[in-house]
Amino acid sequence: MSRIAIITGASSGMGRRFAQTAAKHVAFDELWVMARRADRLEALSQELAGQAVRQIPMDLTDKEALERFTRTLAAENPEIVLLVNAAGFGKFQAVEDVPRETVDSMLALNCSALMDMCYICLPYMKAGSRILNIASLAAFQPVPYITEYAATKSFVLSFSRGLWKELRPKGITVTALCPYWTKTEFFDVAYTRTQKDRVTYLNTMYDPVDVVDRGWRDLLKGRDLSTFGFIARMQIFLVTILPHRLVMKVWCGQQRKMSIEKRWSILFPDE
Ligand SMILES: NC(=O)c1ccc[n+]([C@@H]2O[C@H](COP(=O)([O-])OP(=O)(O)OC[C@H]3O[C@@H](n4cnc5c(N)ncnc54)[C@H](OP(=O)(O)O)[C@@H]3O)[C@@H](O)[C@H]2O)c1
Repeated sequence: MSRIAIITGASSGMGRRFAQTAAKHVAFDELWVMARRADRLEALSQELAGQAVRQIPMDLTDKEALERFTRTLAAENPEIVLLVNAAGFGKFQAVEDVPRETVDSMLALNCSALMDMCYICLPYMKAGSRILNIASLAAFQPVPYITEYAATKSFVLSFSRGLWKELRPKGITVTALCPYWTKTEFFDVAYTRTQKDRVTYLNTMYDPVDVVDRGWRDLLKGRDLSTFGFIARMQIFLVTILPHRLVMKVWCGQQRKMSIEKRWSILFPDE
């Protein structure tokens, strides 16, 4: 029986970094990498030469593609030692400005696809297998102008922690990684670069290498929750003890500190 590791969202950002980390540190026969951009998966395979990589270019919100993936697992019957659910996206606009189909895609990817991947992969996991789901610091509070995204990440956090408890007797662990702002292509997708963009205040920006290193260590320890950085931990503490109405008031006040044009010029200096 072959032992495999599966990483979604492996074409960029934290998913890509998890794929690089797994290839270095875990013993398995094949690394299965999933995302829509086939050229990026090909580049990752080239970079990880020496590690058997199976590229699975697919849209995780496509139910037929998920069924094909389920059939592949049934036919090959591998042991899944690691599943990292990193695929996800958000939008930085008011609820009334985010097109309904975009919200549907966000729910389908951030919530349904992540849960589908857990359901599909669990029958192939044994004691010692590990799951890491990327939630967000936004999971701990309502966040106006990232409202739908924050709600999807609350789902991921709650689902992952409940599953962690349920799977403990089987020796399978589930870690919810909750990153704060992290420099990835996330922002290329979150901003539309129109006046409808509403989030200007990003008080810190972490390096995905540090966030993933921390997530990796916590995953190996079987922790249910992983967060990198003092500011991130302090924020979780504060939003947990303070009334959410106050937390939202402070957040909305912070958005007036910088113009959206200034924020774009910092994030996208070449445009
Ligand atoms: N960056 C942050 O500040 C931050 C903070 C908290 C949480 N997060 C979360 O961290 C996770 C990783 O994001 P990131 O920061 O690394 O951003 P990223 O670089 O934009 O990575 C997102 C990944 O998701 C994949 N993806 C998007 N839509 C997909 C679809 N329909 N089907 C399959 N794959 C899809 C993308 O690949 P393709 O485009 O090739 O499909 C890409 O590989 C996400 O869940 C995000 O919500 C990010």
